[in-house]
Amino acid sequence: MENNDFVKAYAPATVANVCCGFDVLGFALDQPGDEVWARKTEQPGITISAIHGIDGLSVNPAENVIGVVAQKMLEALQVTHGLELQLHKGMPVGSGLGSSAASSAAAAFAVNELLGSPFTVQELVVYAMEGERKASGSAHADNVAPSLLGGFVLVRDYEPLDVVPLGVPLELYCTILYPQIELKTSLSRSILKQEIPLKKGIRQWGNLAGLMAGLLKKDYNLISRSLHDEIFEPERSVLIPLFKQVKEAALQAGALGAGISGSGPSIFALSASQEQAYAVRQAMEAVYAGSGIDTKTYVAQVPEQGVRLVAPSTIQPALPL
Ligand code: HSE
Repeated sequence: MENNDFVKAYAPATVANVCCGFDVLGFALDQPGDEVWARKTEQPGITISAIHGIDGLSVNPAENVIGVVAQKMLEALQVTHGLELQLHKGMPVGSGLGSSAASSAAAAFAVNELLGSPFTVQELVVYAMEGERKASGSAHADNVAPSLLGGFVLVRDYEPLDVVPLGVPLELYCTILYPQIELKTSLSRSILKQEIPLKKGIRQWGNLAGLMAGLLKKDYNLISRSLHDEIFEPERSVLIPLFKQVKEAALQAGALGAGISGSGPSIFALSASQEQAYAVRQAMEAVYAGSGIDTKTYVAQVPEQGVRLVAPSTIQPALPL
C-alpha cells in the first residue's frame, strides 16, 4: 500500500453486560457508530490530525484511545513508519453506548487493514481492549468484542482471553434512552462492591445461562425471563435519574427486558419486533418528558456485522503526502 492510500473504518455502538453478563456479554447496535480514517506516513509516530463530531477530545495520541490502540499495534508488528489518523465521533462519550470501544475498534480495524491485515478481526480484540484500559482504567472486552465481531459476543474468560461470537440467532431490536448526563465508567465501576453474596451469584449465573440458552434456542420467553441483574443494577441505578420508572415503562410497553446499558447512564430495552421497539421508545421518553433532563433515543437492530470499511471520500489528509 502506498502512502497516499487511506482507509476508513466504521465501528458500531454496543450494549455491554446485557443485565446478567457483567463484563462478559455484549451486543452490537447497527447505529450509531464511530469512524476512524487512517493513512501511513513516512515519518515515524502517530498524528491525530482531526477529530470531527465532538468537542473536547485530545488529539494527543497518547491520550486518545485511537492513538493508544494504533501505537500498540505498531509496536507489536515492529513497524517503523508512522500513521496519520482522524476520528469522526458519531455518538456521545460517557453515555454507556460503548463510545470509547467503538473508536478503539474502528482504529484497530483501520490500522490492521492499512498494514495488510496481519491480524484476524478476533485477534484485534486485545488491541482494542487497550483503548478501554486507557478510557476507564479497566481492559474489559464486552464492548470492543461485539463492536468488532457484531451480534452477541460472550467473553468466556480473560486469562487467557476467550471470546465466543454468538451471532444474531433471532431478530432483536434495541431501544436506547440516553439521559444527557455524563457518567464515567471509572466512577460507575468504583462504586461496585467487590464481593457477591452466594444467593445473588446463583441467580445471576442462572440468568446468564438462561439468556445464552434463550438466544441459541430462539426462545423469546426464556430471554425475557433471564434479563435480570440483582447485583450491579441496584448499586448503579442510583446514579441514573428515573431509572426504575423508565425500566418499568419499557416492560409495561412490551419489552422483553430492560436494564442499564454498559455502565450507564443509557438505559436499554430489547424487543422482538421493530414496531414494539418504537412503542417502547415512546413509553421510555414519556417518563423523562418534563424532567428537565435532555434525552436522546435510538432504535437499532442487533446486526450480524460489526466493524467494517466504509468509503473514505469525505475525509482528506491534513499532513503532506
Ligand atoms: N462491563 C463494563 C462495565 C462496560 O459495566 O463497567 C462498560 O461500558
